[in-house]
Amino acid sequence: MPKKFYVTTPIYYVNDVPHIGHAYTTIAADVLARYHRLLGDEVLFMTGSDEHGQKVEQAAKKRGIPPQEHADELVLGFQALWKQLNISNDDFIRTTEERHKEAVTAILNQLWEKGEIYADTYSGWYCTPDERFWTEKEIVDGKCPDCHRPVEALSERNYFFKMGQYRDRLRKHILDHKDFIQPDSRRNEVLGFLEKDLNDLCISRPKHRLEWGIPLPFDQEYVTYVWLDALVNYISGAGYIQDTARFKIFWPSDVHLVGKDILTTHAVYWMTTLMALNLPLPKTLFAHGWWTLDGQKMSKSLGNVIKPSEVVETYGVDAFRYFLLRQVPFGNDGDFSKEALSNRVNSDLANDIGNLLSRTLTMLERYSEGCTPEKIQGDRQEDQDLQNMAEALFEKVDQHLNHLQFEKALVEIWQVISQANRYIEKGAPWLLAKDPAKKGRLQTVLFYTSEAIRIISRLIAPFMPEASKAMGKQLGLSEESADTTLKEACRWGNLPPGLPVSKGKVLFPRIQPEKKEPNQAQAFKSKKSAVPPPIKDLITIDDFAKLDLRVGVIRSAEKIEGAKKLLLLQVDIGSEKRQVVAGIATQYAPDELIGKEAILIANLQPATIMGIESQGMLLAAGGKKVLGLATFSEVIPPGSTVR
Ligand code: MSP
Repeated sequence: MPKKFYVTTPIYYVNDVPHIGHAYTTIAADVLARYHRLLGDEVLFMTGSDEHGQKVEQAAKKRGIPPQEHADELVLGFQALWKQLNISNDDFIRTTEERHKEAVTAILNQLWEKGEIYADTYSGWYCTPDERFWTEKEIVDGKCPDCHRPVEALSERNYFFKMGQYRDRLRKHILDHKDFIQPDSRRNEVLGFLEKDLNDLCISRPKHRLEWGIPLPFDQEYVTYVWLDALVNYISGAGYIQDTARFKIFWPSDVHLVGKDILTTHAVYWMTTLMALNLPLPKTLFAHGWWTLDGQKMSKSLGNVIKPSEVVETYGVDAFRYFLLRQVPFGNDGDFSKEALSNRVNSDLANDIGNLLSRTLTMLERYSEGCTPEKIQGDRQEDQDLQNMAEALFEKVDQHLNHLQFEKALVEIWQVISQANRYIEKGAPWLLAKDPAKKGRLQTVLFYTSEAIRIISRLIAPFMPEASKAMGKQLGLSEESADTTLKEACRWGNLPPGLPVSKGKVLFPRIQPEKKEPNQAQAFKSKKSAVPPPIKDLITIDDFAKLDLRVGVIRSAEKIEGAKKLLLLQVDIGSEKRQVVAGIATQYAPDELIGKEAILIANLQPATIMGIESQGMLLAAGGKKVLGLATFSEVIPPGSTVR
């Protein structure tokens, strides 16, 4: 019997266009949904739009059109973005759909009949932008404790859900179920909130104040509070009213993903509503952190909202998905910047995985007649090490994804990628190929590398579906048939021999950092009439052969305190990392160097500069003043020799 997996995102307000924050939750949910489908589970992945309430009514009013028309238009922006981001949602629920309105109406009737809802006159404070009531005790200096905007005094008759009576039951449920609210910091936050008395929840808005909502079935003068309306999407979308068979399969949900700002509404309002309805509670509610942009809060008023579609057009959809989930542990806040994204693309994607794939395909073309190699059992320690790591990878990724630790899962995958790159360096197939007696060893190295790549390509599929497909295709693999689960696909030794491989386009092209002005142009401008220095005395080819020049990838770069011109670099030359002190700080910011492939004089006697040992030197154009590092336009494996 396949297991079921139901994952949701919040439903997004259609008062605005989608931004990175929306993309983040939806991509995370997509990775989980894709992963569970690959496991063979029956998946329901639900996202949607929150279309009622004051914010939407106001946004429509501003545009001078009816709210439904406004919602119909804005929802398209979300749906188009999900397509562009390869989001594989099984359904999309809009709160203005009949199936949803029917569910909300049915629930309100049920709660009303059960005596869970009562009418009362409420005097208190109202935060208009948040559409929330606060008590005298809760407000801070006349302002909303949540958004810090002024609140207004209100006294009106409304309907209330007897939420307060569920406080102890909810606390107990949280304490008894360790994974119910995650991460732990958010669980503690909710437990802290529940230490105080829990007020009942106002679930109505009089129509004279807000018209755009679902009418209360027992009093047509009121509409439903937008949060109660919205939360019901998780069951209305799953078929609560219109498809009870589907609802039976999928409810309770496995994971509700939300941002940390909407934790209370989910952990308290929603869970107590479910208790009142006698429905089982979701297994996990996970609240992730927030993204800032270049260190600043993203907001329309600051004009710094980045459109995901623009990022995708420049960097590619898989790079964007990878960055968001790799950059910060899920649950923490993160900062988005183009520099950080470029660095990740260049180092993890272009260098690590891109390089591994392209060098392996080249080797298969050259040394294996363009086909996947025979399955061979290697007898060396390094063969066993790579096999062990690749074989253990599925379980590790599985563990991490079960705990929504996307970044840890990716780190594990990247460790195998690095191991495979090191394996190639050590195996040096290009040397083996020169000696016919070593043909067997050459085939072994090719098999181990290709097999590791095959497993890696399968495991990146939930994160980077397009890259995974392209990798498989380049390796000659047909798409895994639906009846093969990911676990089986990740078994060592499944690579069929003799499949024709094809080196397609570069999967992850390197991103060139944006430069204000090209270095060369700058140099020529300032030194228009500069005469190049005279050519030095001749050397012999033997003199030249003494130099061991290697391709080195700059993995890190930092300023050296007290030295304006110097940077401390860590340069990866495949077999080892070299620490190099380079006089290039006037030409390059540390960040723009990460991922650059340079040329290192690898057998230069170490020198101590500013008390730091420099283990080699990078080739650069210019004299005393450096004009630019010598680099390559192709992706070259680190450690390759340069002649
Ligand atoms: N409509 C409600 C949710 C109802 S769910 C029953 C809502 N919508 S929203 O469009 O304002 O926000 C949706 C999600 O986007 C929230 O989870 C929120 O945390 C997330 N983000 C909005 N800005 C964000 C960042 N800057 N960073 C990360 N996520 C953020 O709230």
